[in-house]
Order: sequence, then C-alpha cells, then structure tokens
Amino acid sequence: MSIKKEMQDAINDQINAEMFSAYLYLSMGSWFEDEDLPGFGNWMRCQYMEETMHAMKFFNFLNERGGRAELKAIEGPDISWKSYKEAFAAVVAHEEYISERINKLVTLSRKLEDYAAESFLMWFVDEQVEEEDEANKILAKLKRLKEDSNGLLRFDGELAGRVLAPAAVPTILDQPVV
Ligand code: FEO
Repeated sequence: MSIKKEMQDAINDQINAEMFSAYLYLSMGSWFEDEDLPGFGNWMRCQYMEETMHAMKFFNFLNERGGRAELKAIEGPDISWKSYKEAFAAVVAHEEYISERINKLVTLSRKLEDYAAESFLMWFVDEQVEEEDEANKILAKLKRLKEDSNGLLRFDGELAGRVLAPAAVPTILDQPVV
C-alpha cells in the first residue's frame, strides 16, 4: 500500500529536521576545531554523518513506499556558543526536540493505521534514547570538569577516538540494488 500524503508530508518535514541536525553538528564541529579541541570536533563530524544517515533512512523509506522525497531549504544553524557546556546543553535540547518529533510521527502513523511506518519508526524511537543518553553523558562530564583544563584535554583525546558505528553505515546503502 502506497504511503498516504499526510504521512509523506510529515516524513519530508522530518528529513529536513534531520538535515538541520546534521548542519547544526557540523557547525559545532567547526567551532570546536577552532577552539583547538579536535576530539570534540571529531565527535561532531561523526554526529553530522549519523544525522545525514538518519535523513537517508527516511528518504529510502519514502521511495520504498511509493512516495517522493521533497527536499526543502535547510535553516542555517548557530555558529558559536558561549561555552562548551552551553554547546552540549544545546545538543541535549535539540535531541529532546527530535525525540518529540519522532513520537509525533508514531502517533500519526497509528492515527492513519500505517503500521509499516509505525514499525519503521521504532528504530528511531530506540535511536533517540541513545542519542539523548550520549549527549547527556558528555554534558555531565563537562559539568564535572569545571575549570580543569588538563581534564578537558584528556576528554578531548577520548572523543577523538569516536568512529561511526558500523551498524549505522548500511542505512545509507539499504536501497536494494537491482
Ligand atoms: Fe537524527 Fe540526533 O537524531
């Protein structure tokens, strides 16, 4: 059964929200790198790639359901933050906002009796738990570090080791090749 217009429109809005997330984290990555914190920059670059994969997951779903992706203009994100803590508080707030959006998509899928969409969206429900948890942990650590600049550099070194989870990679390639 082809996807209904109302669900397609809502998913298109979500593609835009995921692409904005990617832009936001890329912008934060540039800021952290400019602050000589390449590990935080690396974390943000990984996050940027993950967000584009989220957008592609929605994009692929629309095409698989006989729908169309309608790409809209992406808003420009902020380019600087008052402190590292403030930047990560913004990440937490943004991820909470995305979780709310995903929950509303689930509610819509149930209203439209689109169980394929509901099943598909459950991956994002689980993903958002991880996204919020990861951002909250980094924010908590930054709060504990306070003015400890050596601790901050050690933490930056830890974040330099982040690599994109292999499980996230196939989502960009999961369109069947015929
Ligand atoms: Fe795509 Fe960070 O949520």
